[in-house]
Amino acid sequence: MAKITASVYTSHIPAVGAAIDLGKTGEPYWQPVFKGYEFSKQWIRDNAPDVVILVYNDHATAFSLDMIPTFAIGMSESFQPADEGWGPRPVPVVQGHPELAAHIAQSVIQQDFDLTIVNTMDVDHGLTVPLSLMFGQPPADDFRWPCKVIPFAVNVVQYPVPSGQRCFNLGQAIRRAVESFDEDLNVQVWGTGGMSHQLQGPRAGLINREFDNAFLDQLIADPASTAAIPHINYVREAGSEGIELVMWMVARGAMADVAGGQAPRVAHRFYHVPASNTAVGHLIMENS
Ligand code: DHB
Ligand code: FE
Repeated sequence: MAKITASVYTSHIPAVGAAIDLGKTGEPYWQPVFKGYEFSKQWIRDNAPDVVILVYNDHATAFSLDMIPTFAIGMSESFQPADEGWGPRPVPVVQGHPELAAHIAQSVIQQDFDLTIVNTMDVDHGLTVPLSLMFGQPPADDFRWPCKVIPFAVNVVQYPVPSGQRCFNLGQAIRRAVESFDEDLNVQVWGTGGMSHQLQGPRAGLINREFDNAFLDQLIADPASTAAIPHINYVREAGSEGIELVMWMVARGAMADVAGGQAPRVAHRFYHVPASNTAVGHLIMENS
């Protein structure tokens, strides 16, 4: 059967993608950011997934304001990197896993979550930057991501957005779906976005280290109470774009302890300010 072996949590800052693409990762401003992912690149080589369920938000790239699904699952064989105004990032096309995606859709919808089935979509920095941070840039003579990826989009851009509790419950439903898929697959669930940042209005530039670090502590030790954080607290404490953190609750809900298993092992924890307008947060948790 398929198994969820680990969850990964990371910010998805677009300027990080640009720093990689323009060869600036060794510059003094960026060096401390990428240093925090050196462990992660080795870890993912040692713990190579077959499939990543990558929970992210689309930034009005694939979904315009014409149509905004709360939760959407990518069913395609492949997903093109999107053109976000500077041309598509020079990263590989993302290879999907239509069979597992179809099984998750079937199972999760029957568990009363309304997923939008997406058969064609491009993927923006919300999805490609986490892949770049974890896998680095694939070599030119083998230009592909090392695993399949199921894009799982959550609306945190246009109100109303789903609660942390609903995202946490969704993670539990995804776990049940994956663990009833009849193929031996090593599956990871990634929660992306965050941490504190606000890109608009009088509080633009807001960063809250205290909230971010308390959130990391609580997410590790007591996910059920973290799920109860109301939407307004994210906005007040972590800024208008800090609401992206609800997507971390999907990945945390998919871990074994939430279903009565053992507490996860925290393999890695990293926090750094600043990167662009955002605080960078990153965790790796392993199921035992
Ligand atoms: C920035 C951060 C984001 O999460 C995003 O989607 C766009 C921009 C920023 O730091 O500027
Ligand atoms: Fe974002």
